[in-house]
Amino acid sequence: MRKNIVAANWKMNKNHPEAIELIQSILFSQIPKKTSTFHQVIIATPYLYLREAVLLSQDFPHLYIAAQNCHHQSMGAYTGEIAAQQLESIGVTHVIIGHSERRAYFNEIDEVLLQKIKQALQHHLIPLFCCGEPLEIREANTHLEYIQTQLANTVFQLNPKDFSNIIIAYEPIWAIGTGQTATVAQAQEVHAFIRKLITDKFGTDIAENTSILYGGSCNAQNASSLFAQKDIDGGLIGGASLIAKDFETIVLSNTTQ
Ligand code: 13P
Repeated sequence: MRKNIVAANWKMNKNHPEAIELIQSILFSQIPKKTSTFHQVIIATPYLYLREAVLLSQDFPHLYIAAQNCHHQSMGAYTGEIAAQQLESIGVTHVIIGHSERRAYFNEIDEVLLQKIKQALQHHLIPLFCCGEPLEIREANTHLEYIQTQLANTVFQLNPKDFSNIIIAYEPIWAIGTGQTATVAQAQEVHAFIRKLITDKFGTDIAENTSILYGGSCNAQNASSLFAQKDIDGGLIGGASLIAKDFETIVLSNTTQ
């Protein structure tokens, strides 16, 4: 059975005291008490705080710490970069790959993203792979084809065993940080489409066990109606994950689905 997952993407926010305070607020909230083996709560902090976040959360069985990126090579002369194997060595368990901000601002193309995914899997990190269309593609009504190509070039290149370790996040770019959430129907349409593509490629078992998260202005008010959809297994939360109370509300709304 696929897991209900809520992941926080802090992006480049919070200084050190603020980051520790936010982690502690999450640990002392209702989240650890209300989550079970059917749930995962993933916190993607900036690299700087990962080790401390891993240590603080180590007694919380359903809470995982993620990086927001990793390099596509295993090690070497890449000044300023972080490798998947380094993340693994400090206890990080997940890594976001292919976020639209990385694609747009750091020119990360599908070919490089596939290398990152392989690095992550080789070092036992679970990739949280993002896809999603920009506004002009949505307006042209070609978003399904666009997403199909993103997946075909990346995660659909994996073998079934590797693919079954992937979490997918659908994040329409026009909804990220804009306050303009996709409607429940728009999100469900794309999630069902992605699951159908997975079924066609890898079969029903894998498709039914793949968690597909929604991201893009998901907040404490709209999370429960999104998460109630058949093919929406949780969320990837940006802005609202920086406020402990809001993040708690979002996670708890996913534990009742
Ligand atoms: P917002 O929730 O701030 O729209 O960001 C979504 C996102 O990009 C998560 O990765």
